[in-house]
Amino acid sequence: MMMKKCMHVSLFAIVSVILLWVSYMKRFGFPDSEIDRFVISGSIGENDSPVWTQQPQFVYLVQGASRHPIPNLNAKPSREIVWLTYRDKTGDIYFPNSTLTEGRNRLLLEAIDRASKRNDGGYLYYLFLDDDLLLRNENDRKRWWREDLPNNPFDRFELFLLDFQPAVGFARYQHNIHDAPAPVGVKYNFDAIFNGFHRHTISFMLPYIGDLDHTSWWFSQWFVIHISAMFYNSNRVLCNAVYAINPRYHGNNKLKGAYTDSEDFRIPRDYFRTWIDKNNKVKTANGENINLLRTFKRQALYLDIPGKADRKHSMEYRVSTKFITIAFNKSHPGIQKILRWRNLPKVRNILYGSEKDEPDFFPDVFPLH
Ligand SMILES: *[C@@H]1O[C@H](CO)[C@@H](O)[C@H](O)[C@H]1NC(C)=O
Ligand SMILES: *[C@@H]1O[C@H](CO)[C@@H](O)[C@H](O)[C@H]1NC(C)=O
Repeated sequence: MMMKKCMHVSLFAIVSVILLWVSYMKRFGFPDSEIDRFVISGSIGENDSPVWTQQPQFVYLVQGASRHPIPNLNAKPSREIVWLTYRDKTGDIYFPNSTLTEGRNRLLLEAIDRASKRNDGGYLYYLFLDDDLLLRNENDRKRWWREDLPNNPFDRFELFLLDFQPAVGFARYQHNIHDAPAPVGVKYNFDAIFNGFHRHTISFMLPYIGDLDHTSWWFSQWFVIHISAMFYNSNRVLCNAVYAINPRYHGNNKLKGAYTDSEDFRIPRDYFRTWIDKNNKVKTANGENINLLRTFKRQALYLDIPGKADRKHSMEYRVSTKFITIAFNKSHPGIQKILRWRNLPKVRNILYGSEKDEPDFFPDVFPLH
């Protein structure tokens, strides 16, 4: 999938993306979704301390018309796969006529439900993918960040997530192909075809913002793109050791009229501006004091903006309540929704466990001009 603005459009399962809200959801157990939970895998704990867990660290959230195998992607002890289907009931969740945003948020909720029962912070990464994703290995070693890469591209991407711990990590896709052959990089406009989100991004960036879904199904990814550049500039990391391709092509919208698909990204930008409290400044990770409106100075969808990919180190991804209520207008319905989400016991449990106080949050804002 790709924002059309940049001429690379993949087919997300649009054939079925229709604007009917149907909350009829049902879970079905399938033998191949059973997970063996007794193998130990290394992970990183609440306070960045290493922990050992017997639970899956990666949950793959797939949306498609009907369940089918995804090449190279199999469930295993460290990896759980959840399907949402909209044409038939072969998935774990049946959600007919759901949009991309609705379907992904429903999958997230399912994963959050499972994660919060664990009391260990749950999965480290939530990975959303389109069901036509083909993940391939890059053979050019100049694009590898280490020598000992696994042969399975999903194992490889997971190793990247564990090594870099990005807020959001993504594979190379179409328009990145001619980039300099560096192992990693940051991207403003990254495609939604395959994105892995660190669990702490459920403090704000996830769930997907669906407020403008009726205007365009492209817009929910715009919020992810902009928020990741506004909060996590060095930690929105492109992994060049694998690349994503998708056989379906969504060039012609066969369902024109059934829903709209505006490509005018000034619409989400101008809407998001109304969330921000224009009177308040916040301190950024590099010590500046800025008002977040400064992140909207120029065009609505950048091809790219400067930044240097980094590992997580001590970067705090959890957006704090204090930060939200200073930076944003807390009476805005969009912010209210996020505050309500953060107050759900299962979300708090994943974000803070038994911690009493929320740590401060200093956004790593992309270089302003
Ligand atoms: C899905 O949308 C189609 C076309 O609008 C409609 O005919 C069908 O009844 C809808 N399915 C459900 C389960 O609502
Ligand atoms: C905050 O949002 C509310 C609700 O949208 C609005 O009525 C109010 O004017 C906003 N306040 C500021 C300072 O923008």
